[in-house]
Order: sequence, then structure tokens, then C-alpha cells
Amino acid sequence: MDIDFLLNGERVELRDVAPTTTLLDWLRLERGLTGTKEGCNEGDCGACSVIITDDDGARTLNACILFLPQLHGKAVRTVEGLSGPDGTLHPVQQAMIDRHGSQCGFCTPGFVVTMAAAHLNGDTGHDDVLAGNLCRCTGYAPIIRAAEDAAAQPVPGWMRDAPPPVAATPSASTGTTHAPETLDALLSLAADRPEATLVAGATDVGLWVTKDLRDLGDVIFLGRCRELREIEVGADTIRLGAGVTMDRVHDLMRTHHPAYAEMIRRYGGGQVRAAATIGGNIANGSPIGDNPPPLIAMGATLHLAHRDGRREMPIEEFFLEYGRQDRRPGEIVEAVTLPVSAPRLKVWKLSKRFDQDISAVCGAFDIRIEDGHVSAARIAFGGMAGVPKRARAVEAALIGQRWSDDAVAAAWDAWERDFTPMSDMRASAGYRLSAARNMLSRYLLEDLGAAVNVLEVTP
Ligand SMILES: Cc1cc2nc3c(=O)[nH]c(=O)nc-3n(C[C@H](O)[C@H](O)[C@H](O)COP(=O)(O)OP(=O)(O)OC[C@H]3O[C@@H](n4cnc5c(N)ncnc54)[C@H](O)[C@@H]3O)c2cc1C
Ligand code: FES
Ligand code: FES
Repeated sequence: MDIDFLLNGERVELRDVAPTTTLLDWLRLERGLTGTKEGCNEGDCGACSVIITDDDGARTLNACILFLPQLHGKAVRTVEGLSGPDGTLHPVQQAMIDRHGSQCGFCTPGFVVTMAAAHLNGDTGHDDVLAGNLCRCTGYAPIIRAAEDAAAQPVPGWMRDAPPPVAATPSASTGTTHAPETLDALLSLAADRPEATLVAGATDVGLWVTKDLRDLGDVIFLGRCRELREIEVGADTIRLGAGVTMDRVHDLMRTHHPAYAEMIRRYGGGQVRAAATIGGNIANGSPIGDNPPPLIAMGATLHLAHRDGRREMPIEEFFLEYGRQDRRPGEIVEAVTLPVSAPRLKVWKLSKRFDQDISAVCGAFDIRIEDGHVSAARIAFGGMAGVPKRARAVEAALIGQRWSDDAVAAAWDAWERDFTPMSDMRASAGYRLSAARNMLSRYLLEDLGAAVNVLEVTP
């Protein structure tokens, strides 16, 4: 595959790149740009952070799980490109020195790149911005102080990248690598090559390569397909294309579904959310994917597309059993439709670490009350079964109950009819069941006005 992109302001044209060469390996091994570090090589630590700019703006991504074909038509800025042409330090670099924000220094290039992207975008939510960057020795306080200091400084002119103009071709294919520009071209490719690996943000697939050393065979990159990135907000529903990234879902949900947005704030770190797509999270069928529980609780519809036709289904019906989804050969996840508003929706994610961790349990509830009694309930969980699953027995037990402790008690035994969770390194089966029951109590307590969020309780 041939690709063109900007690297620290200079145009790079690469011919015949392998589909699964990561940007991190290429920078370090082919370009000698060793400032970008390899910490975990699985998207967790942020040591490999780079700034990527395209039509959607500038954001930080992890170079270790970013394949070269994903860069076509974009601008890349590495830590080597942060200081000015005359060597003037970027304001975040100077502030990190002044505030003693570095000790061993291994994490520091990733931190300054992430901080420089936030500085460029005027984003001062430093805690969230830096949740995807791990520092083991300095501690975050001096780093946050540096970010606060730098925020008062203007953005240096050299930081404003414009993505390079590139010719669009309906379907760029070379050897085993394909990057269709239109949905029709994508469906045609997928139907002709049903065994091909579809790659959207590569936050799952990247690890198959860096950790499992898998050969992906034919690879179809979805990122250039504009139709998949579209968002339509109608009077009653929101349609999200499968290629919409989680940072864009987060922005939208802040307005429409704040409880869902608050969960997404803890979905990976910023670098993961800027790459990960909602379609990839649904298509992978993971029992601990964080989007399916709220989507099931809201009654979302999943749209699947094949060259020979389209179909749709309530999203919970897509997840058949562990590792198996209702997706036919050559079919792709095209979009998901959800209600524009669900004021009673609550979503809670429990994980061992507050930021950037996979859920032990993720619960989503939409319980409607009329005349003090439960009139309708939709409840769904991740981490409680081999698939994201609706709690139908609990819902049935709740309906008609007085909305009080009586309702929680009436549903007590139903939890075990819905779920037989497993014990693993994230949580025991007993913890999971008890956490799920407690979430229902929390829903009730919040309705009664009790303070239940530990982040809001002050001594
Ligand atoms: C550090 C880190 C933290 C993470 N944290 C979380 C988290 O907090 N919560 C969470 O739920 N997940 C998390 N993940 C997992 C991952 O980010 C998500 O599952 C993500 O949404 C996957 O999207 P993607 O676009 O990167 O998918 P990819 O990796 O590109 O693809 C994933 C799978 O879906 C298939 N696929 C992709 N798009 C389509 C499509 N349109 N149609 C059909 N098949 C398709 C691919 O072939 C592949 O099988 C994390 C991952 C990392 C590396
Ligand atoms: S090396 Fe850790 S996120 Fe890339
Ligand atoms: S300075 Fe050592 S890990 Fe951050």
C-alpha cells in the first residue's frame, strides 16, 4: 500500500508498506526517531504518544498500536517535532523542566506530547488528558503543575499542522492491504474476502499483532470510509456510524446521555478513545466491552450491511454466545441507532483502577416509575456472562413493585437466574453478583436523594 503523510512538518511518501508495521517501529527502526518510547507495546502506558492531525483536528494516539496505512493523508508530530526550528522549547517542555516533572525520564516524551496536544486544543482538563500516560516515579502533581503553567502560554506557530492534500481513490488495494474510501467499495471487498481482517481503530487488532504476533492475512482498513464516520442526530434518535471514535461519542453523550458520557470518560485513556471506534467495540463481541450495556439498556438498534443487503436487530440479539456474534461472512457493522434522550439512564463501571482499566462489572439501568411503582425496566450488564446481557428476570421481578427497598428485595433472587458470573483476576463471581445487586440499590438511593458517589462525598 502506498501512503502519504506529514512527519514533523515534512511530507513523507512511502510505497508498498506492510499492513501491520506499527508507526512506533517505523519511527524508531526506520527513521531513527527514538524519542518515542516503547513501554508496554499494547496501548496502556502512553510512552509512545504522538500527535495526529486530520480533518477531525489534532489528538494524541499510541504509536505502538497504530499501523502505517492508518496514517494516509494525516499529519504526525513526534516528540522530536515539539521544539521550534531554532531549538526553542515548547512551553510544556519548559514547564516540565521548571516544575521538575521528570525523574527517570522514560515516560516524559509521551507526557510532553500529550500535554502539547492538549495545549494546542486549549484543553485544561489535565487529569483526564493525562489518564492514558503512566509515570512510575515522578508522581503526577509536578506534571499537572507544569501543564497548568504551560496553559497560560500561547501555542507556538510550528505546532499548527495541516494534513497534506492526497488524491482519493475509490478503493486503494495493494497485495493483502485494502483501504476503501466508500461504503460500496468496502462492502464489495468484504464480500469478496470474507476471511479478511477488518481494522477500524486497531485498539484490539493492534494487540493481536504486537502481543500475539498474528499474521492477519488480508487486511481491510475501515478508517478512510467517510460514511462509517457519520453522526446523525434526529428528533428522536441518534445514528452513530460504526467508525465514530469514542472521543466523538463522548462529546455527543455529554449532551444527550450524561451517565453514559461519564462512563466513557473512563474508557481507556484519551489516546485509546481517539482511536477506538464504537463499531469495533460492538463487533468484537467482548463480554466486557463498555458500550453494549448502555446501548442495550437504551433499546438501541444495530445496523449490519452486506453487499447483498442490509438488516437490523435489537443490539442484544447480536451477541449469541462467548466469541460468537450474529454476523455473516462479508457482513460489517454499519451503525447503531439509540434514542436521543433517556433521562432515567444510569451507567456504572467498576474496575480495579479508576482510569484506563477494563471493567470488572459494567451495569446500565433505565427504570421508569409511575405512581411510585416500577412501570418499565431495562437493565444490562457487561462482565456478568459470556456476552453483554440483559437482566430479564430482574426486570420482570421489578415491574409492578413499589419503588422502595421492597423492589430491591423482590429482585434479589432474580439476579442469580439472569447471571452466573465467573471468577477471574478482575473479580470473583460473588463480588460481581453483589456489585450488581448493589447497583440496583444505588439507583434507588440516588432517586431518594442520598449521596452515593464516593467522588462527591467530602469528609
Ligand atoms: C489500553 C486499552 C484500554 C482499553 N480500554 C477499554 C475500555 O475501557 N472499555 C472497553 O470497552 N474497551 C477498551 N479497550 C478495548 C478497545 O479499545 C475497544 O474494544 C475498541 O472500541 C475497539 O475498537 P477499534 O476501532 O479499535 O477496533 P479494532 O481493533 O479495529 O477491531 C476490533 C474487532 O472488531 C472488528 N471490527 C471493527 N470494526 C468493524 C465493523 N465496522 N464491522 C465489523 N467488524 C468490525 C475487527 O475486525 C476486530 O475483530 C481498550 C483497549 C486498550 C488497548
Ligand atoms: S508503548 Fe505503552 S502505550 Fe504504546
Ligand atoms: S519519570 Fe520515570 S516513569 Fe515517569
